[in-house]
Amino acid sequence: MTAQSAVSPKDKQPNVIIFDTTLRDGEQSPGATMTHDEKLEIASLLDEMGVDVIEAGFPIASEGDFAAVAEISKRAKNSTICGLARANFKDIDRCWEAVKYAPSPRIHTFIGTSPLHRAIPNLTMDEMAIRIHDTVTHARNLCDNVQWSAMDATRTEHDYLCRVVEIAIKAGATTINIPDTVGYTAPRESADLIAMLLARVPGADTVVFATHCHNDLGMATANALAAVDAGARQIECTINGLGERAGNTALEEVVMAMKVRNDIMPYQTRIDTTKIMNLSRRVASVSGFAVQFNKAIVGKNAFLHESGIHQDGVLKNVETFEIMRPEDIGLHQKNIAMGKHSGRAALRAKLKELGYELADNQLNDVFVRFKALADRKKEVYDEDLIALVADEATMEEHSHIQVKRLRVICGTEGPREADLTLLIGGVEKSTEATGDGPVDAAFNAVDMLFDHQARLEVYQVHAVTEGTDAQATVSVRLTEDGRIATGQSADTDTVVASVKAYVNALNKLIVRRQKSAPDSDVKSVSYKDR
Ligand code: KIV
Ligand code: ZN
Repeated sequence: MTAQSAVSPKDKQPNVIIFDTTLRDGEQSPGATMTHDEKLEIASLLDEMGVDVIEAGFPIASEGDFAAVAEISKRAKNSTICGLARANFKDIDRCWEAVKYAPSPRIHTFIGTSPLHRAIPNLTMDEMAIRIHDTVTHARNLCDNVQWSAMDATRTEHDYLCRVVEIAIKAGATTINIPDTVGYTAPRESADLIAMLLARVPGADTVVFATHCHNDLGMATANALAAVDAGARQIECTINGLGERAGNTALEEVVMAMKVRNDIMPYQTRIDTTKIMNLSRRVASVSGFAVQFNKAIVGKNAFLHESGIHQDGVLKNVETFEIMRPEDIGLHQKNIAMGKHSGRAALRAKLKELGYELADNQLNDVFVRFKALADRKKEVYDEDLIALVADEATMEEHSHIQVKRLRVICGTEGPREADLTLLIGGVEKSTEATGDGPVDAAFNAVDMLFDHQARLEVYQVHAVTEGTDAQATVSVRLTEDGRIATGQSADTDTVVASVKAYVNALNKLIVRRQKSAPDSDVKSVSYKDR
């Protein structure tokens, strides 16, 4: 009997709950902060994709986080909406205030249970056990759906972990999460831990066990899947593996692993995998964290075959070197999508095929920019259109600063000069500046026109397609007084894309300055504080 024929029918396979925390743990990546509208957009794409639970944020962390979680809750269609809360009544109440609008709300409360984490609030084992009982009971009195996490569970003494998990279950938790907070565990240990809890904790069979893995040793996906094999039925993950330090388990990896190797991992999810690629691109764009080229599933090279032997094999029989089809994740063959004679209807249809449904006014704007691009560029590929739409989304109509005109002089003879006109609060302002190169000169010109103290932390350029006429996408990260803002833009002119990305980040900083009072800033209420 082959492994294939031993697989249980799909409708008999256990379901694994996909809990996406891109908007909470993912957003905790330094610099990955998203705007309110970006969070709403990502949440709605996650909901459409079939994510069971969306962890939408950490409501007490800032007014901005609260507003985003509340709005996502109001708009949720199918997904359960969850908010994070530390182990105190104030956090839990605030969390409930934000998630209560969701058709299916969840409160997620946590505390660090390992010796290192117990030492921070200076609680004895008994005091912490009482805190867990009281906070989970409080959460359960507000909401039927309560998740409790033992932060740093993988470095917690087994006896104590069993004790506190039992207390959380008795107090009413419906999901018990066992995080590998610092990405320390390995697959066999991850499985053994879940098996141990299921075997030893009274009432373990009445709750769902979740696995939440960080990728510090590059084992997050393997650890999550091993935990599922041992009986965990919820995987916590993020799009593109975004998250603190080396990130979290990547949603696309665990979902595709269970689909492609269903013969040895016979589990089902509700995820529509054809939506993966679009979500990956949107998250990369709004977070400013480009996906590495060789990233599993969603990397630019994941389906490219460079060597002659591979190309020959794939042409003769695609299965020689491909274990899944690009279409399975919503990746369509690279083709010359559109030309300068294509009309609005063709553009709408093409964008729909790529996963974008734009309102009429948005389509009109993209159409104008598409025509301009088609005039400048020989061939307009799918990737060009995706970059155009992403760029359109970052150019908020009422942005405080807008780029009106830019000319640069560069080459082997200095000085490199930029002549720039910005619209600042509706007023046109122009200046000339010099710099070490055209981008430096243009950024100096921006700084002369708009006074600010922000520091440029990251400046990255990527070519969207091949060829010297390719569009460049530029990501910029700025920091100012603990606030972080990323900006993106795309253009066939790298200097123009750079200035627009810089201005985009400055606009986000301006919004952030207005929104965040110093004592409610995310930075001052990290989930690790208590
Ligand atoms: O990594 C972690 O332990 C967390 C908890 C808050 C669940 O993100
Ligand atoms: Zn985490």
